[in-house]
Amino acid sequence: MLKSNIDRSTGFERRFENAGSVVYENAEQASKAVAKEIADLIKVKQAQKQPCILGLATGSTPKGLYAELVRLHKEEGLSFKNVVSFNLDEYYPMEPDSIHSYVRFMKELLFDQVDILPENCHIPDGTLSKEAIASYCDQYESKIKAIGGIDLQILGIGGNGHIGFNESGSLKNSKTRLVALDHITRVAASGDFGGLDRTPRTAITLGVKRIMEAKRVILMAWGERKADIIKSSVEGEVTNQVPASYLQEHNNATFVLDQAAASRLTRIETPWLVEKVTWTDKLTRKAVLGLALKIDKPILMLTDADYIENGMSDLLADSGPAYDINIKIFNSLQHTITGWPGGKPNADDSNRPERAEPAKKRVLIFSPHPDDDIISMGGTFKRLQEQGHEVHVGYQTSGNIAVADDEALRFAHFVCDYNEKFGIENKKANTIYKKALKFLQNKKDSEIDSPEVRHIKGLIRKGEARATCHFVGVPDSQIHYMELPFYETGTIEKKPIGEEDIQITMDLIEKIKPHQIYAAGDLADPHGTHKVCLDAVFEAMKRLKPKEFMDDCWLWLYRGAWQEWGVEDIEMAVPMGPDQVLEKRKGIFKHQSQKDGVVFQGSDSREFWQRAEDRNKETADLYDQLGMARYAAMEAFVRYRY
Ligand code: F6R
Repeated sequence: MLKSNIDRSTGFERRFENAGSVVYENAEQASKAVAKEIADLIKVKQAQKQPCILGLATGSTPKGLYAELVRLHKEEGLSFKNVVSFNLDEYYPMEPDSIHSYVRFMKELLFDQVDILPENCHIPDGTLSKEAIASYCDQYESKIKAIGGIDLQILGIGGNGHIGFNESGSLKNSKTRLVALDHITRVAASGDFGGLDRTPRTAITLGVKRIMEAKRVILMAWGERKADIIKSSVEGEVTNQVPASYLQEHNNATFVLDQAAASRLTRIETPWLVEKVTWTDKLTRKAVLGLALKIDKPILMLTDADYIENGMSDLLADSGPAYDINIKIFNSLQHTITGWPGGKPNADDSNRPERAEPAKKRVLIFSPHPDDDIISMGGTFKRLQEQGHEVHVGYQTSGNIAVADDEALRFAHFVCDYNEKFGIENKKANTIYKKALKFLQNKKDSEIDSPEVRHIKGLIRKGEARATCHFVGVPDSQIHYMELPFYETGTIEKKPIGEEDIQITMDLIEKIKPHQIYAAGDLADPHGTHKVCLDAVFEAMKRLKPKEFMDDCWLWLYRGAWQEWGVEDIEMAVPMGPDQVLEKRKGIFKHQSQKDGVVFQGSDSREFWQRAEDRNKETADLYDQLGMARYAAMEAFVRYRY
């Protein structure tokens, strides 16, 4: 069994965490560990000639787990013949063969790939009449009870703390039932369903009572987005507002986390409150900045008493008095601020984030989608160009699935009308656009776009990216559309990174031989496009490392549209004045297909330019709060030493 951090006999870490948790380097390693526990249990049960009753979940979280179980079956002969499974939930209404059904999900990812007997797989039925649901749910529970209850229950967690589809407010003794889905849950699912309107409002879910009766429960969570809810579930009070917090009362439940999902737990976020730590420079900076922000004082105003009263007296004993520590941290933060992201020519650069030489640098900005460059680092992008560097942009993917159908329809109509009006006889072009037009006019819900439509959508985004580059002043010869193949599936589900993606990335780096590379550093996003794009950059740079030009190539990471770096991690902060903020806004406006409600809105209803402005202002506010100079906005970067 996975060893959790809580040793129940000594009460280790009981001070903050009320449920067991294990943290792994990444989701892949964590999934493998969970798969191993399941495999061991299946084998023990086989030896005892007993069935192994598994409670299974769907969603993005368990995909790696199922892939590993399939591998164990195919490569190591693990048999599932004695497994009986009960899935947590299904949308209602839902046809089993719909691309959205959990039946289809389970078949594709697990059941059809292992030797489990079809009659042993149970998933709530989304096709029943409403009247039939209550008695069906009773039967579902009876079946679980009759076979002896669930041996091991796998769970994911929703942004509101739901387990199964037991949303906030679900009681601890809730039964298996039809539930209304929370707005947050529907928004999270709306990407898969192609919009909120098309996302189901109800589902059938196993109740909390049966989940709590499972002999063993493993809740898995990956990525930064889950960090807050994991903290509430593990360290907060037990409340029906966060159903996952009920697991604190289970005697054999473990939260299995990757580093990002665990990042807000006290022992990770402020380890000095839990155990004796070695005060490295990095940890000291994190602790001091956290202290200043917590008690709302600029760094230079912190006193010995502030350190002592906030659990940092050993730091004071090590490196105090407060004044000395304050000055050191103040200076290190001060040195991150620069209006010269490409380095300041003829200046002493010993305390600047970038080198002064060469004065004119070749810069390559990698943008996962066609608008990440301007959204996430538009101010810096513009400065680099204005300060005379040779700025190239590599658009890593076409971004075509984020264009709404009516937008594509508008362009298809435009071309068809234009051709007709001016009698343009290019047969091939006419056929492509007419075909696309017809497809779009008859497109069914969540049907995958035809290649012609995808092409049009890609062209729309290319045009927008080009418009932004021209606005910034970058010539066509420095715009590179990479169209990485991993992205081109036509669906939200992408292919894994492939050799071709890495090769295209290597070729571009080699062609430009940049002194600076900027890339979207969403290290913790387990499945998203940004992470795959970043992996391609990392792998390409690793392979190119022996080349001489790479000795001079620095890699700077910016964050995607959703979050900013923690202030303790920032190594370069590029400030902006009010006018520069407005300029950046105009640059973002070039992405017309991403305005006024986008296909992948997420739970944040702000437009991209608003998110970018709020976030850049927040960073400037933080610096101001910490006692630095006051700016209107700031873009933040971390240097990656590869
Ligand atoms: C799925 C389920 C849900 C998910 C949760 C997290 O069967 O019951 O509770 O586990 O919504 O979803 P992902 O893993 O997609 O973040």
